[in-house]
Parts: sequence; C-alpha cells; structure tokens
Amino acid sequence: MNIAIIGTGYVGLVSGVCFAGLGFNVTCIDINEITVSSLKSGRVPIFEPGLSALMERAVTRGNLTFQSAYGAAVSNADIVFLAVGTPMKDQAGEPDLSALCKAVDALAGALRDGAVVAVKSTVPVGTNEALAARIRKLRPGLRVSIASNPEFLREGSAVADFLHAERVVCGVPDDRSKRVLTAVYQPLCESGSKLVFTSPKNAELSKYAANAFLAMKISFINEVADVCELAGGDITDVAAIIGMDNRIGPKFLEAGPGFGGSCFPKDTEAFAAAARAYGVPSALIEAVITSNNARKLKLADRIIAALGADCEGACVAVLGVAFKPDTDDVRDAPALTIIPKLQAAGIRVQAHDPEAGQAALRHLHDVVWCDTPLDAAQDADAIVVLTEWDLYRATDLKDLKSRMRGRFMFDYRNIFSAASACAIGFDYTGIGLSPQADDAVFEVLDAEAIAKRDHDALDRTCSISGQDLVEAG
Ligand code: UDX
Repeated sequence: MNIAIIGTGYVGLVSGVCFAGLGFNVTCIDINEITVSSLKSGRVPIFEPGLSALMERAVTRGNLTFQSAYGAAVSNADIVFLAVGTPMKDQAGEPDLSALCKAVDALAGALRDGAVVAVKSTVPVGTNEALAARIRKLRPGLRVSIASNPEFLREGSAVADFLHAERVVCGVPDDRSKRVLTAVYQPLCESGSKLVFTSPKNAELSKYAANAFLAMKISFINEVADVCELAGGDITDVAAIIGMDNRIGPKFLEAGPGFGGSCFPKDTEAFAAAARAYGVPSALIEAVITSNNARKLKLADRIIAALGADCEGACVAVLGVAFKPDTDDVRDAPALTIIPKLQAAGIRVQAHDPEAGQAALRHLHDVVWCDTPLDAAQDADAIVVLTEWDLYRATDLKDLKSRMRGRFMFDYRNIFSAASACAIGFDYTGIGLSPQADDAVFEVLDAEAIAKRDHDALDRTCSISGQDLVEAG
C-alpha cells in the first residue's frame, strides 16, 4: 500500500516513519526544501526518542522517501495524510488554516480519481467539509473522500504513542475511506489499538475536546496545589488519592508551572474561540487559559519576592527550558514567560537544558547557557527547576548546593525531596507542598500488603524473643 504524507513536522514525520516501520511504502512531502534535504541526509530535525533509528531502518529498507514535489507520490497513493501545522492565527485564538489550504490546493491537481485524503492536522469542526468543497471546486467531477484522522501522540513518547495508540479516531464520510483507513491501521489493532469510526465532525470535535479536558485537569490540580500550600497539605498525596478513583484517573494530575507545548495552549484557545463563535462561550476553558497564563507569572513573582531587595543583580539558575522532558520543543514553555519576567526584575539568568537550549535561543535573550546543571548553579542565589529531566533528578543536591552562593530552591516540578533538600541547607519551595504539612506517611495497603506487614511484624517479634532468650540464657 502506498501512503503520502504532507508535512514533516512532529505529527507528519512521526506518522510517516511509523507507517514505514509497519511496512507500508511511504513518501513524506514537505515544501521546505531545507527540511527535505536534511531528512534525505538522515538528519531528524526534532529530538524524539526512537525516531531516528526507526527512520534510518526504513530508509535503508527502501520504503521511506522524502521529497518536496507532490506529483507522482500523491497520484500513486492509496491514502494521503495531511499533517501541516495549524498554529494560532491571532490573539482571538482562531487557528491559522492557510498552510493547510495551500497544501490542499497543491494536492488537488495531483489527486487521482477515488483518492482518500485523511486530515491529521488539528482543525476546527467543519474544516473537513470545507476542504472537500475546496477540492471539488478545483477538480469538479473528481471522486475524493476527505476523512478526519486526528492524532493524539505526545512529544517525547511520539513513536510509542503512535504505534500503541489506545484509540485511532477516524471521521469518515463514506465506505471507501473507512476501508482504506482500516487497512492502514490494521497492524496497530493487532497490537491492541482500537479503531473508532465516527463522523468527520465528531472526530474534529474529539481532538479539541480531549486536549481541552486534559489541560483543564492540569489547571485543576495546579489550583488544588495552591490551596494545599496554604492549608498545610501535600499535593502529591492529594493527587494520588483522587487519582485512585477511576472516574478521575491518576494521569495528568502532576502539579507544576502550567502546561505548555505546541498543542494545549493553542487548542484550548481554538476550542474557546469556536465555542464563542457558536454563541456558547465555554466559561470553563476560558478560565483554564486565564489560570494557566497567570500561573507562570505568579511563579516568577514568587522567586522575585523571595530574593527581595537583593533582586537587582541576583543570579538564578534555571534547570530546563523545554516545555516537558524528552523533547527539544520550547513552544509556550513556562520558561519563556518566567525567564523574561525574572530578567525584567534585574535578575541574571544562567540556564541549562540537555536538548532545548538551541531552540530557546530564538526566544530568550541575555541568558548565560551552561553545559551542565552544576555549571548553571555556579554562584547562583536560587535554583529554579522548570523541566523534569531525569538528568536533574540524578543530580547530587549537595554538589548543586556547594556551587551556589545562595540557598533558594524553587522546585516547580517537585523532582527533589523537600526533606532532603532542607537537610542539605536549601530554602526549598516545591509546588503544592506546605512547610506546615503534617508529617504523615502516605501509605496504601491492600490485603496482600497487610498480610505481608503482619507476617514481617511476627518475624520481628520472633527474632526479638529469640535473641532475648539467648541473652537471658
Ligand atoms: C499533548 C496531548 O497529550 C497529545 O495527546 C496531543 O496530541 C498533543 O498535545 P504534548 O503537548 O506532547 O501532548 O505533551 P503532554 O505530555 O500532554 O504535556 C503537555 C503539557 O502539560 C506539558 O507542559 C506538561 O508539562 C504539562 N503537564 C502534563 C502537567 O503540567 N502535568 C501533567 O500531569 C501532565
């Protein structure tokens, strides 16, 4: 089966490489010649675990190619996936569909009769229908099916998410597109994925609704964290407890500096804009956007307040500028709001990120970039953790402290233990943790754990009494 993919960004490239990995013949098309020649020479333009090796294998096998022309690759394709970016157009939150429309216009001339086009780009409800009309206008009489196939992969685990998707959503207008989509996704079903068929509009809506819901979950737990800090609670325990209720679920309950990335900020804005346009503004999603934006500024203010009058000329070490670990993406990362705010208060920033430093150069200025977290800590008055890279978790707190001139630690991802950091001499601030929190030990016992505990206790009693007997004897 032949697959053409238009757009080699995150979604397009990962999908193309994975489909090739599953054995399909894939041509990835991008109008950016530089990107194409970089891909042709084997360079992957994004940092994504596992992607490079999978791409190399497919290219060597000969079933993955890259090009900038539409032509034959499109006319020979059994299915064409559209995966071009739909960034935010303006402050109003509406997505910019111009790249998608251009791609459709360029594609239309090359499509063969009976073609199936699947839209992977995240688009507002009704876009599929509009794109079908656009193609019909350019190629009257051509039989073409435009299906919606939103992608739910996450950066940092994109390959695994694609290959082991819980569900693959297909909004299909007819049987032909259903048949072709079933054929391309069948290999995923064999390893447990479920194919969901619905209308194109439902598919389009589900993508925005899923991302808006997850963003809401994060903002919710962040607000609970604020209350925990003042009320003497511990957000880690509270999140674990509420997450044990399977109506809530344990995922996306990690409190932090606010969500970022290429999807949640843009998709919540787009969903809110769509709701407004339909005359049913979403108070919830509008509040999520406001809460998330305010959070980043508030957390910067917390650092500025702690440094107090010494702020001007103080030095802060920022660990992590990527919006999350295992990616070099800094789009809408908390660091892009927090660092400029610190700098505006006269604070000097030394930063480290294992992958995203280069990408951050375009957005952040006057930052001293360091090769290691320890170098970043050199003479710093405060450490601020903004991305939970494993590398930081593995950093020795004593070493970190010994490089600093101050003692503040703002662990905005809760990667260190507050007790250990305080024992070393840090003035530690986590997220959702209160210095007044009761010293209760969080413990979950089930029948097996209780039996083991009783058994261990019995063992201890026996060994003590055995020893007592020996001593007494
Ligand atoms: C997201 C969706 O998860 C994915 O389904 C969609 O296709 C694209 O958008 P991604 O942006 O790659 O994926 O990252 P994700 O892991 O979802 O994290 C998004 C943001 O939320 C990050 O800034 C992350 O730090 C933050 N987050 C996530 C939290 O603050 N707490 C959490 O518990 C989870």
